[in-house]
Amino acid sequence: MEIKELIQKMTLHQKIGQLTQYNARVFLNDDSVITGPDKKLKLTDEDLATVGSVLNSFSADDMKKIQNQHLAGDPLKIPIIFMLDVIHGYRTIYPIPLGMACSFEAEITEQCARMAAAEAAASGVQVTFAPMVDYVKDARWGRVMESGGEEPLLTGYMAAAQIRGFHGDDLTGDSSIATCVKHFAAYGAAEAGRDYNMAECSERELRQFYLPAFKAAIDAGAEMVMPAFEALNGVPATINPFLHNVLRREWGFDKVVISDYNAIGELLKHGVAADEKDAALQAFSSECDMEMCSASYFHCLEELVREGAVSEEQIDRAVERVLRLKEKLGLFEDPYHGADGKKAEALYLCEKHRELAKRAATKAAVLLKNDGVLPFEENIGSVALIGPFADEHAIKGFWSCAGRDEETVTVRQGVEALLGKNKVRFARGCGYTWNDEDRSGFDEAVRIAKSADAVILCLGEPQNYSGEGNCRTDIGLPGVQEELARLVAEANPNTAAIIFNGRPLALTGLDRHISAILDMWFPGTEGGNAAAELLFGRAVPSGKLAMSFPRSSGQCPVYYNHTGTARPHWTTEAESRGYASDYIDCGNLPLYSFGHGLSYTEFEYIEMTLSADTLAEGGELTVNIRIKNAGKFAADEVVQLYMRDPVASVVRPVQQLVAFKKTGLAPGEEKTVSFTLTPESFVFYDTAGRLTHEKGKIILMTGCPDHYYYKEEIELL
Ligand code: NOJ
Repeated sequence: MEIKELIQKMTLHQKIGQLTQYNARVFLNDDSVITGPDKKLKLTDEDLATVGSVLNSFSADDMKKIQNQHLAGDPLKIPIIFMLDVIHGYRTIYPIPLGMACSFEAEITEQCARMAAAEAAASGVQVTFAPMVDYVKDARWGRVMESGGEEPLLTGYMAAAQIRGFHGDDLTGDSSIATCVKHFAAYGAAEAGRDYNMAECSERELRQFYLPAFKAAIDAGAEMVMPAFEALNGVPATINPFLHNVLRREWGFDKVVISDYNAIGELLKHGVAADEKDAALQAFSSECDMEMCSASYFHCLEELVREGAVSEEQIDRAVERVLRLKEKLGLFEDPYHGADGKKAEALYLCEKHRELAKRAATKAAVLLKNDGVLPFEENIGSVALIGPFADEHAIKGFWSCAGRDEETVTVRQGVEALLGKNKVRFARGCGYTWNDEDRSGFDEAVRIAKSADAVILCLGEPQNYSGEGNCRTDIGLPGVQEELARLVAEANPNTAAIIFNGRPLALTGLDRHISAILDMWFPGTEGGNAAAELLFGRAVPSGKLAMSFPRSSGQCPVYYNHTGTARPHWTTEAESRGYASDYIDCGNLPLYSFGHGLSYTEFEYIEMTLSADTLAEGGELTVNIRIKNAGKFAADEVVQLYMRDPVASVVRPVQQLVAFKKTGLAPGEEKTVSFTLTPESFVFYDTAGRLTHEKGKIILMTGCPDHYYYKEEIELL
């Protein structure tokens, strides 16, 4: 049936039902009276019979039960649409998004999203609340783990890859799910890095840094948008007129907008809505089509229509958006969208998926430091595995959907599988929570470190220290881990540390004591195997940081694309100059910058040549960067091109990524990586809010913010 015809047949109450979403548990309760926390929603059986969407259903059986029950009671036979946070895998878990961003690779990202979509769709999920594209620069904020890091260009690139992967060629396909880009916008600007906190951001900053990745995701076909929780410039994002205008008017986004969890209900708590009716009116008037897990639309929209505050045409438009999405997914033909419990079981953790998760984890890892310790030889005599993460299964990371800790490979399992059990000794050494000061395991750790040929020290922060609602003020290694590291490294200098983390950590102390540090992020199901392959050189690290690592927590936010100051003082060590923009007790530069990441091989940057030294309107400029793999390992390199606009009408970032390419080189191989730039490559927002580029000098640089190999100037005409 035509969607518009269908809408004409619906009662106002049925229409409002399409604009609501509730938890699966509300429907799986055999009792028709809702109990527990859901009782507060005050939903009637009649409401429940018309609900358009359900979240948090985790199996094909549950989905079918809810869907069948619903369709049996719905004369119009409009299927429910099922949504879930499928963020970095469904049951087979791959690295957290911040880790995936460090791969700088669309291909692996797309493949991983495809895998997640297949497992999720078979399990009864039709939409994922991903990708999250918040621009982030404060590592205290726990949700940086879900993001693409501190560079909008990279975030947008990774988001598009995820969307291609989740959607596949055709949304009706039984291994495809639709996407909901979030959190619109500036959720990552939460003051003091504290989740849900307010954000103040100029329009220029929003447009320059926070909005581009959303636009990239929408251009890549994202099917939904979720407004953020926070109050932005004084008005909650759900009802923020600036954001509404950009999304619906400027960008013409005419698909579904869904509130975040209880975000419409929380308009009262923000103090911008007098009561539930006011909240419903403001949210609906801001074209927030669907309400997630509060019930103001059910309670108040009918009355608002009766009173003329909301027109039925407005309701119809929102309903049409929701029904069009259901149509796109083919739900009217197959309300299960191909979900099949047996098929799901066969896909979960199958060899192909494990292999992909392992490859992704090797690509996400970043070698932060290596003074010749890594890789270890496979024919090594003995290895001591030390630290609270050495035999830890909880390394999937937050937002792991249906993933299970016990199905995750630990480092110990991975190393034992590679070397054989007899070569490996293990001591936990200490705990990893912030208040665990138990040092009773130190002696044993030092003892086995002394007698081993090499030490793998496995440290980090627990996986529930990042993710939603999990923020920290001190982002060092929690507890006494750094002390353990010092003692172990003194006992055996042939020590490499691997780190598990959901955010950049302040690792200055560790960096002082340990010769090699490999950041695994939260690597997912195959983490231990991936770590073993990297440590013993079966895989070569190629990840580059998508987010800078601070020297100390107090440096946050520290990020590479900051604007300059008139009193700059960029040092690694504390040396306050007085009346300069610096600290008395810490250098300004991050410990490891965005773009940083070492390899086991050595890449030589032979030259950078430009096709011209001027660039006119409508013209093109080719930048050729010649590199050589001068080391012994076949490896990938991410060639990065940065710019600096030294004189402009507004203060520009001291450096900004304009392009990058990842390429593989065999030992001894040389390659030229080319970038084609146009004047549009150098655009920025001016004070009038115009996207523009201005005449004058531009400096182009290759390498990474830690170290540039070449700098060349061009003149924009
Ligand atoms: C709240 C989170 O902010 C959002 O990212 C998520 O998609 C929803 N809950 C649904 O779980």
